[in-house]
Amino acid sequence: TAAVILDKDFLVFGHRGASGYAPEHTLLSYQLAKELGADYLEIDLQQTKDGELVALHDPDVNRTTDGTGNAADFTLAELQQLDAGSWFNKKYPAKAKPEYAGLTIPSLRQVFQTFGNEVNYCLEIKTPDAGIEGKLLSLLDEFNLLEDPKSANVIIQSFSAESLQSVHRVQPDIPLIKLMDWYSPLVTSEKELKEIKQYAMGIGVSQLWSTPAFEKKVRSADLALYPFSVNDAASLFKVAHTGTLGVYTDYIDTISAYK
Ligand code: G3P
Ligand code: MG
Repeated sequence: TAAVILDKDFLVFGHRGASGYAPEHTLLSYQLAKELGADYLEIDLQQTKDGELVALHDPDVNRTTDGTGNAADFTLAELQQLDAGSWFNKKYPAKAKPEYAGLTIPSLRQVFQTFGNEVNYCLEIKTPDAGIEGKLLSLLDEFNLLEDPKSANVIIQSFSAESLQSVHRVQPDIPLIKLMDWYSPLVTSEKELKEIKQYAMGIGVSQLWSTPAFEKKVRSADLALYPFSVNDAASLFKVAHTGTLGVYTDYIDTISAYK
């Protein structure tokens, strides 16, 4: 067994579910993430033509389905005709499983219907337009996932400061993570970090920049640092030594082995 090196509070975010093992953002990927003991399911959100929130990373369906085009040009019903599993069999033949064929893009409503409050959610607003923040908050409310926001079974994150600020104005108790572009730590001042602290509790950043120097800056703004995507022990050791408080990973079991 692995030596315990991580604090028990160290957060393991299942990046796109258990995306190292199953097609990302399918209910199967989330089920596996739950079974592997992820602290949070990390779920990217896009919006369909008919205004439904769906779990999808890219704005288009080209990479992860057998279709082509932008999600925003499909209704939910049309989107769910697409096969969101077979691509994984082709891209990762060693992990191919026949049951991946025919998996669909879930709506966020289906995710909540399936997992309810049995898991924690880290919900990422990908394309902040057309009222996506309001829709997300209503859906969370409908499933009673905001009863005690401070108990933090929901985190909301985004690369968009405006999107997070608009959530914060309505629901100031929901913990928020500001994601940063890969180069941002190079150009982000302590003053800017303090501004982020006005609405967010942490920063999500490429593990390239999870260095002791940047972590110190982040800490002095009283923010937590969560690097992505940390997929093996060597990378974990590097970031853990900076005082980081959790990681996003495609391989939950690999990281949790050190808790
Ligand atoms: O969670 C960090 C990560 O989700 C941000 O990158 O592109 O995988 O959504 P991305
Ligand atoms: Mg994401």
